[in-house]
Amino acid sequence: PKSYRIVVLPGDGIGPDVIAQATRVLELVSETSTSVKLILESHDFGGCAIDKHGEPLPASTLAACQQADAILLGEQNPGQLCDHITDWNTGSVGGPKWGPEAKVRPEQGLLGIRKALGLYANVRPANFASDSLLSYTPLKPEIARGVDMIVIRELIGGLYFGPRQEQGDGDTAYDTMVYSVGEVERITRVAAQIALAANPPLPIHSIDKANVLASSRLWRRVVTETLAKEYPQLTVDHHLVDSAAMIIVANPKKLNGVVLTENMFGDILSDETSVIPGSLGLLPSASLAGAPALVSDPSFKPTSGIYEPIHGSAPDIAGKGIANPIGTILSAAMLLRYSLGLEKEAQAVEAAVRKVLDEPSAGGYGIRTADLQGKATTVQVGDKIVEVLKS
Ligand code: NAD
Ligand code: IPM
Ligand code: MN
Repeated sequence: PKSYRIVVLPGDGIGPDVIAQATRVLELVSETSTSVKLILESHDFGGCAIDKHGEPLPASTLAACQQADAILLGEQNPGQLCDHITDWNTGSVGGPKWGPEAKVRPEQGLLGIRKALGLYANVRPANFASDSLLSYTPLKPEIARGVDMIVIRELIGGLYFGPRQEQGDGDTAYDTMVYSVGEVERITRVAAQIALAANPPLPIHSIDKANVLASSRLWRRVVTETLAKEYPQLTVDHHLVDSAAMIIVANPKKLNGVVLTENMFGDILSDETSVIPGSLGLLPSASLAGAPALVSDPSFKPTSGIYEPIHGSAPDIAGKGIANPIGTILSAAMLLRYSLGLEKEAQAVEAAVRKVLDEPSAGGYGIRTADLQGKATTVQVGDKIVEVLKS
């Protein structure tokens, strides 16, 4: 069998709990497959790596990630990084300069690993609208039903990486939103290829703040021109981010299709989309260095990426064993699909999750964590998903 190396970074807070359930699923895929073998190896990352090694992304962890076929990541508490890392961007002005000899360098931590691996395309599907979840959505069921959007978030540019100054004189601080034509073109192409992979092709909704921000006016111009020139068969509309935030809860189906946006807008809007299925704990993500090739595509070439739930380390429930592992398990499904080309296995994992969520709680499955008003523990949800996968 073909073997793949998967680096697992459990991280902090609820990270290790949710990761443990997702790795069980990957181990099961490995045990039952005759064609592939998955070799999982854990490395220290985040706050726990600071405790052990004095840095959030030890060189050995980064090296393992660079050699891996894919990376499954739990959470990290970047708050803990702030003492060490005040400047993510080596090329930026302001902030301390970290020489190559410095023990803690800017290209570390979660933002550092995304940047180091060039993972500019963050894919965050919000299409897991199973009918049984409609009882958990805080929206009216007729508003949540049928929502099928996939957020494409630019991940290594914009405000997160632009020139910044910490409060040097205690009086002023700034961050800068910078985008170049090339950065906008490449993320637009990812959105276009995802739109084209569907039959019929999906509409693209580009989100910006072009009425105020110069970087957004460049964004809108480049998105429009790139699509017109390279993908004339696709449709695109543009929304201002404030209005888009309203539409996501008032009439989200208006944004069905591909939602294309810059780094920080995508961060905020993707958490907002999680109210539609009913919990932040449900949504997965993939961070890639290009468009995900589909295995049905003759040009499919497995490429590495980071797979992680969109939520954080959830300090308010950490250590209680009640975190929802489904966002992480669905991230593992995306890993199987996009980095290993195991479409059938990915679908089996997604079907098992759906089955567990769909069963009514009286009898049968209906095993749910507290964020979905259930009483099950993280491990019990993992048990049930593994049991369904085995059956
Ligand atoms: P959060 O996403 O950790 O939590 C927000 C709310 O959602 C909390 O009430 C939490 O209990 C709940 N929640 C999140 N995931 C859940 C799950 N799987 N099951 C049940 N409930 C869940 O956001 P926050 O509290 O603003 O951030 C906490 C820390 O996590 C911060 O340090 C932040 O920077 C970090 N963070 C890390 C990542 C990452 O490593 N990928 C992502 C987001 C936030
Ligand atoms: C996410 C997180 C991260 C981000 C933080 C923890 C740096 O919120 O993955 O959505 O803003 O990208
Ligand atoms: Mn976020």
